[in-house]
Amino acid sequence: MIGMHAIVIREPGDAEVLEWTDVPDPAVQPGEVLIEVAASAVNRADVMQRLGLYPPPEGAPPYPGLEVSGRVAEVGPDVTGLKAGDEVCALLAGGGYAERVTVPATQVLPVPRGVDVVDAAGLPEVACTVWSNVFMLGGLSAGETLLVHGGGSGIGTMAIQVAKARGARVVCTVGSAEKAARCRELGADLVVNYREEDFVESGPYDVILDLMGAKYLARNVEALATGGRLMVIGLQGGARAELDLGKMLRKRALVHATSLRSRPLEEKAQIVAAVHEHLWPLLASGEVRPVIDQRVPMADAARAHRLLEESGHVGKILLTV
Ligand SMILES: NC(=O)c1ccc[n+]([C@@H]2O[C@H](COP(=O)([O-])OP(=O)(O)OC[C@H]3O[C@@H](n4cnc5c(N)ncnc54)[C@H](OP(=O)(O)O)[C@@H]3O)[C@@H](O)[C@H]2O)c1
Repeated sequence: MIGMHAIVIREPGDAEVLEWTDVPDPAVQPGEVLIEVAASAVNRADVMQRLGLYPPPEGAPPYPGLEVSGRVAEVGPDVTGLKAGDEVCALLAGGGYAERVTVPATQVLPVPRGVDVVDAAGLPEVACTVWSNVFMLGGLSAGETLLVHGGGSGIGTMAIQVAKARGARVVCTVGSAEKAARCRELGADLVVNYREEDFVESGPYDVILDLMGAKYLARNVEALATGGRLMVIGLQGGARAELDLGKMLRKRALVHATSLRSRPLEEKAQIVAAVHEHLWPLLASGEVRPVIDQRVPMADAARAHRLLEESGHVGKILLTV
């Protein structure tokens, strides 16, 4: 065992608990590949994990990191279609903040044509979350209106671009004029500054992609169109609130809350395959671009976490090895 460097969470706490230190090398299992990591990216979930509020699922590495890009270093038994040296990115259940990581081959994607290998680290989590929620479960179609809360987030910047490319009308919420300008550049038809205006007034919306949870539940339901679909992926505004079923019933509306990380391997494989089929061509054609706020050395992951928590960023914060 040669060993590698990874970010270890010494104990639950603020960003200073993240330590770049020596850990054992991962060993590739049947159906998996070993990736030599070029970069990972910071997700809200990593902050929750650092705080001790979001433990990794069983079997996942203890280090944070839900996505990486890099080069295939080794291919395990029963893997077809991938070989050592391939430039790839991958959706992980954890362990991306490291020099090497193993992942089921079904969660590996090629680096899209025209995309830098480091920038590709910021794609798997947002691409899979947006595609599975807005399109697979939410069924957004051309001509419909999507409301994206947090348009400047990693998730938001991807959702705006993909929904526009698929012919939807897109409205998003943001907390600052700078983020509003960036979201308009990305294609948003209308941007609502939630500190000054009420997003309900710009509705109704066929699909809402929500990250606030309890705080926005009543207003989200109010803002849904008849037959509307509310997709809850974040609980930044709490988990418990009252749901007006009368309003839902009259609108024949749907509320769906889900987390990508805990889904079974078969479901993740289906999502990754659908993303490859439908979203990767949009990246290769340049219609959808990775939105990168900045690159931070992985050893300095603490600074990257502070940046995410301060919320001045637009798009993804990358961690480079
Ligand atoms: N369920 C899943 O499978 C899944 C997967 C991935 C991500 N997520 C969730 O998706 C969310 C975005 O993730 P991320 O990694 O892209 O995070 P991020 O880049 O840190 O974005 C968080 C965003 O929340 C926005 N925000 C804060 N208060 C708001 C409010 N009152 N109204 C509207 N927006 C508000 C911030 O924008 P302002 O600065 O403009 O306020 C910021 O852009 C997180 O909640 C994350 O946990 C869920």
